[in-house]
Amino acid sequence: MSSLLLFLFLFLTPSSPLEFHYHNNREIQQYLVDINASNPDISHLYSIGPSVRGQDLWVLALGLSPHRHTVGIPEFKYVANMHGNEFLEKQPLTCLWIVFRFLAETQRTSIQLKVLGRVLLLQLIDDFVRGYRNNEDWSVKLLNSTRIHILPTMNPDGFDESDTDCLFSQGRANYNGVDLNRNFPDAFAGLRKQPQLEESRREAEVRAVIGWLRMESFVLSANLHGGALVASYPYDNSNGGSELVGGASVSPDDDVFNHLAKVYSHNHASMHHGGQCPGSGPFPEGVTNGYLWYSISGGMQDYNYVWAQCLEVTLEVSCCKFPPPNQLPALWTENRKSLLAFIMQIHLGVKGRVFDGSGVPVQNAVVEVKGRSNMCPFITDKHGEYYRLLLPGEYVFTVTYPGHKVLTETLNVPHGPDQYSAMKHDFMLRQIPATTVSPQANPTKANSTEANLTRSCNSTLKLDAGASRSSWTGLCVSLGLVVVLLSLVS
Ligand SMILES: *[C@@H]1O[C@H](CO)[C@@H](O)[C@H](O)[C@H]1NC(C)=O
Ligand SMILES: *[C@@H]1O[C@H](CO)[C@@H](O)[C@H](O)[C@H]1NC(C)=O
Ligand SMILES: *[C@@H]1O[C@H](CO)[C@@H](O)[C@H](O)[C@H]1NC(C)=O
Ligand SMILES: *[C@@H]1O[C@H](CO)[C@@H](O)[C@H](O)[C@H]1NC(C)=O
Ligand SMILES: *[C@@H]1O[C@H](CO)[C@@H](O)[C@H](O)[C@H]1NC(C)=O
Repeated sequence: MSSLLLFLFLFLTPSSPLEFHYHNNREIQQYLVDINASNPDISHLYSIGPSVRGQDLWVLALGLSPHRHTVGIPEFKYVANMHGNEFLEKQPLTCLWIVFRFLAETQRTSIQLKVLGRVLLLQLIDDFVRGYRNNEDWSVKLLNSTRIHILPTMNPDGFDESDTDCLFSQGRANYNGVDLNRNFPDAFAGLRKQPQLEESRREAEVRAVIGWLRMESFVLSANLHGGALVASYPYDNSNGGSELVGGASVSPDDDVFNHLAKVYSHNHASMHHGGQCPGSGPFPEGVTNGYLWYSISGGMQDYNYVWAQCLEVTLEVSCCKFPPPNQLPALWTENRKSLLAFIMQIHLGVKGRVFDGSGVPVQNAVVEVKGRSNMCPFITDKHGEYYRLLLPGEYVFTVTYPGHKVLTETLNVPHGPDQYSAMKHDFMLRQIPATTVSPQANPTKANSTEANLTRSCNSTLKLDAGASRSSWTGLCVSLGLVVVLLSLVS
């Protein structure tokens, strides 16, 4: 009986394409509820928590097993409408730099509305669902190989405040006036620059995302912004250590990040030309290292990568922050191929599980790739799984787990996206006989880390670096104000 009702419901539900306009928060929620109700086989709607004003942050998961993780199926996410950019919160190396940056960015910093991202992600959901219902290969194959989580608005309160100007508008911050893209824990910033180090004092939206990252082991992610046309990748911050190379803050996975960003820019109608928006760029091939563009502290993409082993890039998808509604269909067309091609990259590299001496998959085994010393070493999740995005080539893996011999294996990694799957490889550990276990062989407690992302990360050394710059701040702020005034006058 209930299946008959469901059938009738599906039959009677019109499947006309989603209209192109700026949906308000209530409309977005209603749309997600409708999609969830009419597609129970491939969608799962859940909230990761409330905003400051108590609006749910809704996530729609799409996949052939949408409700829970399946071993071997990587978790992907897209996040939109986070807002960004507080000019005075930037931490420049020199006063000249701050002045230069301000002049270069007046067009884009004022207020960044990430509203186009909402539109694109709703269209993406619509496209996936319609493609699946029409049995289109691209949709069926992606949903059968990937679980895709979509958070169309991370800052619903900010959207309520926003107006619709192209360059200057309200609504960047959350309800408490905090820029969410400066509110995450930062491995590079000095302790003094992170007054809210304690998690319970962070903004509600940021806490929700941090909790989300603990709930699911995300592998790849992008957050969508507006105000430029470029794909920007970690790091966004630096404390002047060895990561700083030629003005960029280079991560151990720089080659992979550069590739990920280029997949987006080259599949986009014009992003790969670089420097398409007045006053920003030039961006060779439409990509940039985040720090090289401008540094931020407490950003979301560094947090994803450093603390949650999820590779995230920031996609600036339109010059105009609030494009007129009649431009939305064209903007969707420009971005559609990129959005899909980017998801496919989750199948780069290697995936598999780590088994202990008795054949049981183990959590918190450290899986490292030679030449890539991540600040927080990548570890297996609660299913004993690891995912490691790598470009094709030969890599030396080292797997470490308490009570077991260190395992080193060389793997030849092919290009996975063509197959909708990364190369599959499990690691079989061998136990060390109990008598010979040395205390040093226990780098982490096997079960202590689930609720503690600071775990075995090697970033504590850097926590206090950079604090000496504070004496510059007063001077820089005054200089900056002069520039602001001058630019207002002219
Ligand atoms: C999503 O749909 C399922 C199945 O119809 C339903 O049980 C669930 O309550 C819905 N979730 C939300 C948040 O509406
Ligand atoms: C999903 O993938 C599995 C294995 O990769 C395959 O056996 C199955 O037929 C696929 N299902 C669909 C609906 O394509
Ligand atoms: C963690 O391990 C200890 C002993 O190694 C055990 O007593 C404790 O119950 C475990 N905790 C959890 C949450 O599994
Ligand atoms: C997390 O781990 C760190 C380092 O091991 C420890 O100092 C900190 O107290 C832990 N935090 C929590 C909330 O358990
Ligand atoms: C942390 O990094 C420093 C410098 O890069 C290194 O000397 C140290 O051995 C590392 N510690 C751990 C626990 O990996």
